[in-house]
Amino acid sequence: MISRLFLSFLVFAAVPCPTWSSSAESGDEGVCSEQDGSCSTAGGDPASSGSSCGCGALKRADFVKDGVKLSEDKAGSHELRSSTGETDEEAGIIYLDGGSFIMGLIPKDEKDPTVVFSDGEGPPHKETVGPFGLGVFEVSNRRFAIFVEQTGYVTESETYGWSFGVEAFISPEVNATITQQVDAAPWWLPVERADWRHPNGPDTRIHDLMDHPVTQVSLKDAEAFCSWSRQGGRLPTEVEWEFAARGGKKSRRYPWGNTILTGAHKNTHRMNIWQSELDVHLLKDGRVRNLYGHKQALQLVKEYYSSLNTAEDGYNATAPVDAFGPQNPYGFHNMVGNVWEWTSTNWAGASDPNTMVKKGGSFLCNPATCNRFRCSARMMFTGDSAASNVGFRCAYTGKGSQSGR
Ligand SMILES: *[C@@H]1O[C@H](CO)[C@@H](O)[C@H](O)[C@H]1NC(C)=O
Ligand SMILES: *[C@@H]1O[C@H](CO)[C@@H](O)[C@H](O)[C@H]1NC(C)=O
Repeated sequence: MISRLFLSFLVFAAVPCPTWSSSAESGDEGVCSEQDGSCSTAGGDPASSGSSCGCGALKRADFVKDGVKLSEDKAGSHELRSSTGETDEEAGIIYLDGGSFIMGLIPKDEKDPTVVFSDGEGPPHKETVGPFGLGVFEVSNRRFAIFVEQTGYVTESETYGWSFGVEAFISPEVNATITQQVDAAPWWLPVERADWRHPNGPDTRIHDLMDHPVTQVSLKDAEAFCSWSRQGGRLPTEVEWEFAARGGKKSRRYPWGNTILTGAHKNTHRMNIWQSELDVHLLKDGRVRNLYGHKQALQLVKEYYSSLNTAEDGYNATAPVDAFGPQNPYGFHNMVGNVWEWTSTNWAGASDPNTMVKKGGSFLCNPATCNRFRCSARMMFTGDSAASNVGFRCAYTGKGSQSGR
């Protein structure tokens, strides 16, 4: 067995920040406490930060195939057959009037490091958005399949011939052929012939996932779909996305409120994130530890993602786009959890100018490994990259002044 190559040389700094702690009373969610104020400030690439989500480290350009970097223009360039796109109903658009809101999370107190400054998140500030429409759901495999069928579109992962997948979901046969890994997040692997039809490698299928979000799509793929969907279709900006996610509520962590679980018995799941039998080991002195704050962070997080998702929220990977019901008063589903969503906003200060902001977290998120399933959380993603936990929903310009508030 060939040992896997560590391709880039990002030093993984075991910065002990932020530490997630959980109050025993609430049981479902805790408050972070910053131990020693050693968090780095905004800017740069968070992949090298100790509190990073591993998925910020996925960059297609870090990988080469057969010793050759595929050229940009080779990917996704082709004539699209003209086609009618989607009706309003098929696109499932909620129109919002826009307005002013506070973007970012107001910390509970000065010791609440839920805000991940190293991601460029916060401080809270006023933003204003004009009227726009946004898909009530993430774009499903079914909708993407219709787009591909009507236009002949070929995605970038298909053109490149590979994409990023998580080891736990890759078959032992395909896993055995993989010789590289993402060094800053070694549970992520470059998988040959992984694409939207085969999200976890050539021997995986989507026939029973047609209502799940499409994944393994790049920025160009997402933009192509949105402009096909309806006239004025495009990706949302980060500000629009967060405005929609907040649903008119002020400074809440999640679209519905401040706790992960809701309901009279605090046992109702509202989103699709990762649960593991290892969660019990994350508890120390009644506090949930942030694995990234640990000396053996990478090994621990890799072990965490090697154990199965126990699916207490009902799903061990993606969930159907309409699962869990509306997450906020506007009616949007799966804004947080399920899959990360592309936005049209550039990541300021990234080394690659084609680096974008993605929002909402994914089914791989967990308080201990990636506390990014919040309205204000953000993560970087280079435009030509794609992964099994990244999808999108479309925004629409040009109608406005309908429902919404
Ligand atoms: C996820 O659940 C499906 C359906 O129960 C199962 O077939 C699959 O093996 C599970 N995958 C993982 C990685 O747990
Ligand atoms: C995948 O391959 C790696 C490296 O060969 C091995 O260490 C690991 O246990 C394999 N994982 C699975 C789930 O088969």
